[in-house]
Amino acid sequence: MLVGVIGTGYVGLVTGACLAELGVTVLCGDTDGHKIAELKSGKLPIYEPGLKTLVRDNTDAGRLSFTEDLGELVRLADVIFITVGTPQGKDGSANINNILEVASVIGEELSEGKVIVTKSTVPVGTSEKIRERIEKNSDAEFHLCSNPEFLREGSAVYDFMNPDRVILGVDSDYAGAYLRHLYAPIVKNTDHILIMDLPSAEMTKYAANAMLATRISFINSIAALCRKKNADIGMVSRGVGTDNRIGESYLNPGAGYGGSCFSKDIQALLKMMADEDLDPSIFSTVEEVNERQKTLLYQKVVERLGKNLTGKKIAIWGLSFKPDTDDMRAAPSLVTIEALLEHAGSLAAHDPKAIQEARKRFGTSIEFSENQYEILSDASALVVHTEWDCYRHADFEIVKSRMKQPIVIDGRGLYDQDWLCKQGFEYYSLASSFTNCGQKE
Ligand SMILES: NC(=O)c1ccc[n+]([C@@H]2O[C@H](COP(=O)([O-])OP(=O)(O)OC[C@H]3O[C@@H](n4cnc5c(N)ncnc54)[C@H](O)[C@@H]3O)[C@@H](O)[C@H]2O)c1
Repeated sequence: MLVGVIGTGYVGLVTGACLAELGVTVLCGDTDGHKIAELKSGKLPIYEPGLKTLVRDNTDAGRLSFTEDLGELVRLADVIFITVGTPQGKDGSANINNILEVASVIGEELSEGKVIVTKSTVPVGTSEKIRERIEKNSDAEFHLCSNPEFLREGSAVYDFMNPDRVILGVDSDYAGAYLRHLYAPIVKNTDHILIMDLPSAEMTKYAANAMLATRISFINSIAALCRKKNADIGMVSRGVGTDNRIGESYLNPGAGYGGSCFSKDIQALLKMMADEDLDPSIFSTVEEVNERQKTLLYQKVVERLGKNLTGKKIAIWGLSFKPDTDDMRAAPSLVTIEALLEHAGSLAAHDPKAIQEARKRFGTSIEFSENQYEILSDASALVVHTEWDCYRHADFEIVKSRMKQPIVIDGRGLYDQDWLCKQGFEYYSLASSFTNCGQKE
């Protein structure tokens, strides 16, 4: 069996490398020639824990290879995964041009009996558009599957290899049986392979992301009320999450969700609902709450240091939208950085993996360092954006000795408030009162 994967981004490269690790021969393709050249020379275009080793080992073993020639990939592969980007369009909908382009190439090169699997997140009904596009160019019989991906950046390899469940929307028993067999090594409990129709599988992805984003905006709204009522959001969150009906995940208050998926997928959901004349207000509110949440950190800086930040240096720990990734797409740090630059602040930033990406976006308007303490010299405030482990266990004696004013504004609730305040810091945490060391407002 040869598996073809079209699109070598976060989802495609992880899918290709993980399937190869299961012993399958995989050919990954992409139209980005630079990316393919890098991959062929052993360089990874993205950071994801464990991925580099997986790609190297499987390339060395001859099970994983890369091509720019998508036609060749379609001719050789028995099953073709589509994992290309589906960016947000101007009207909020997911733009499926990449998907349809791939479908055209598949149609041009297709031979009998292949299984075409969409892993990209696509609006409900896209599978039928893929079918139409393929059939324009081909009379060959084929099978369609919608297999939405639920991996999280930062733990993508682990998530792919240990899925809670695999969703398979199929148009034939053959496609269901084929993919069930492919996934069998990583889904020990076959009850967790859920076979359904194509639109239900497409919808499941949007429903899952909307639920997770809703939980985040929900807890951030409860946190805002806790601040007014002097209730401890940490305890409230635990008290709510330990109810088995609710569960503890995605109930941490913070600076809002980011990343390439939640916002984009909710916008697409809003558009789908509007197109059907349905009331989308629950999801628009989730997004509004999140947009507001992303502004809280820079507002606190301005509240403490004034609107005119000329001559003031603000240090930022964490740029990626979450730890263990270099991805800055829709990261809350972008909102803070853009606002502080507008207020003429001088910025210095550290991130274990995202500095290269941040340099592409901000050039020399920010001072970057590979050393998290170096950027603190003369800083009037430290804003903590991402919960990387190196920040959790930071040495606050060094932090204090370097900073001009020991003000820490924490968007992720990483530190013990009492301890930090005893060390002489002014400390504001979005996971507690967001007032100086928990003083009443
Ligand atoms: N990133 C995530 O955490 C995640 C999780 C689940 C689902 N998804 C979904 O998976 C899809 C891919 O996301 P991603 O984060 O991997 O995107 P990405 O931007 O990292 O990668 C997409 C890749 O597709 C390639 N591509 C674009 N058009 C192409 C074409 N016509 N032919 C061949 N290659 C093409 C690009 O060059 C790029 O390498 C999206 O629909 C996304 O919503 C993403």
